[in-house]
Amino acid sequence: MRNVTKENITEVFKSYMDKDMAPRTREIMSALVQHLHDFARETNLTHEEWRQGIAFLEGCAAIESDGRHEFVLASDVLGLSSLVDMLHSSSKSTSSSVLGPFHVSGAPALPVGGDMKRDFGGPVLLAEGVIRDTNGDPIPNAELDIWQTAPNGLYASQDDEQDTFSFHGLMTVGADGAYAFTTVKPVEYTVPSDGPVGDILRACGRHPWRPSHLHYIVKAPGYRTLVTEIFPDDDPYLDHDTVFGVREDLVMTYVEKPASAFPDGLELSGKVQEPFLHVKFDVVLSPEA
Ligand code: BEZ
Ligand code: FE
Repeated sequence: MRNVTKENITEVFKSYMDKDMAPRTREIMSALVQHLHDFARETNLTHEEWRQGIAFLEGCAAIESDGRHEFVLASDVLGLSSLVDMLHSSSKSTSSSVLGPFHVSGAPALPVGGDMKRDFGGPVLLAEGVIRDTNGDPIPNAELDIWQTAPNGLYASQDDEQDTFSFHGLMTVGADGAYAFTTVKPVEYTVPSDGPVGDILRACGRHPWRPSHLHYIVKAPGYRTLVTEIFPDDDPYLDHDTVFGVREDLVMTYVEKPASAFPDGLELSGKVQEPFLHVKFDVVLSPEA
């Protein structure tokens, strides 16, 4: 095409694609370039602004490493990770939420009723519930992978002071589908903001905070794996999560109870002397398609 114009360039791009290319690739590339070109036309994007965009991508690439996933973080704070997640989550199961970059695979087994708090300070949080199917029946022997921040707001993978699997546990629930564990109440924390994504947040007048949460990955044969989080209803960042991870059914009340109400049969039974927090959270898995 010799007479490319700002009006026809999008259609010219589409005409350059091979007629035998994979249909889904065609669909995605056509829509991507359509929106990209419309974005430039709509904003009348200048050379300098386009250069800033390229510099942002180069800045992400420059700090990308095993421990730092700046492109994923960009997707998180732009809401794209959550949007993709919501587009493909089942409306019948518990809502899914972002995985984030801090999960460490291969955590040691945590028995039902086991403790992740160990010697860390602060009140005990007892989390318990049942893994259920969409009829409300318990799913026996499901696998629950749990992780969270330490009281200093850092995940084990960010903190030299913690063991590799600190505040990580892999639980196989019993025949009754029930899980229970004790831990500390997670704290709100900031996503990394010392790179190009931090620049975007500041340019938009946004903060880098996430409300406190427990992360779960729940797996059972015959069911869709669920990646989700649980949030306490009194967290100050619940309505401003910088990665858009909060869903109504994931917000729970952590109820304060006297030490005398701590149940039997758990690792910390008989050892809790102070009031503790209690959250009940049942997880519903939808069947595999
Ligand atoms: C997290 O919850 O661990 C997380 C999610 C997205 C970005 C950063 C952290
Ligand atoms: Fe997190």
